[in-house]
Amino acid sequence: MVIVYELYFINLSSEAYLWFKSLHIIGVIVWFSGLFYLVRLFIYHEESRTMQDDLKIAFNDQYSLMEKRLANIITTPGMILALSMAICLVIMQPGWLSEKWLQIKISFVLGLVIYHVYCYKIMNSLQNGTSKISAKNLRLLNELPTLLLFVIVLLVIFKNNFPTSIATWSVFGLIIFMLLSIQLYAKIRKKNEESLKNG
Ligand code: HEM
Repeated sequence: MVIVYELYFINLSSEAYLWFKSLHIIGVIVWFSGLFYLVRLFIYHEESRTMQDDLKIAFNDQYSLMEKRLANIITTPGMILALSMAICLVIMQPGWLSEKWLQIKISFVLGLVIYHVYCYKIMNSLQNGTSKISAKNLRLLNELPTLLLFVIVLLVIFKNNFPTSIATWSVFGLIIFMLLSIQLYAKIRKKNEESLKNG
């Protein structure tokens, strides 16, 4: 009878662990989608500040509303879900905390949380018209979570056997190449728009 109870408890706790892990991953997906879209909105918001006054005011109101809703209804709840589920995972398996991969992962996650808080700071300054950060720098900033995502996912999948093979560097190089291409494309598009405007 005792053995049956123990087996039942082990089954229940391993199922709970998988539930926490599933919700952790769902939280991570929601958090990242919010962060990616939020900074994209900042870029459009910043670019709208060069428009005529009436348009500028209308766009400012609209972008401010979209940013606030995205940040408060999607991005921050995604972060809370991901982090609270991560805490549950660590409570169920405290041994993880002494693993090097998790310690490194936590330091990258800390960087992501700082990025999240910084996004709120930018959002407030865009809304009250005091933002000093250019659209070009916002585009660069938008690439940061991609790099963090790449490293964190590799850490959690490979754990202490973090791959340093040529394949890893090739994928990393490809990501950097894609990010630089996006920057270059935006630069060319902006130049074309300006030359069209100037006739
Ligand atoms: C302080 C914050 C975090 C802690 C303490 C944490 C901790 C954990 C732990 C203990 C696991 C279970 C590992 C296993 O069972 O193999 C896990 C899984 C996972 N975490 Fe996190 N995590 C955090 C944040 C994040 C973030 C920000 C991301 C995304 C970039 C992320 C992505 C993942 C993924 C994809 C898995 C599933 C890995 C697998 O099933 O092999 N985690 N996390």
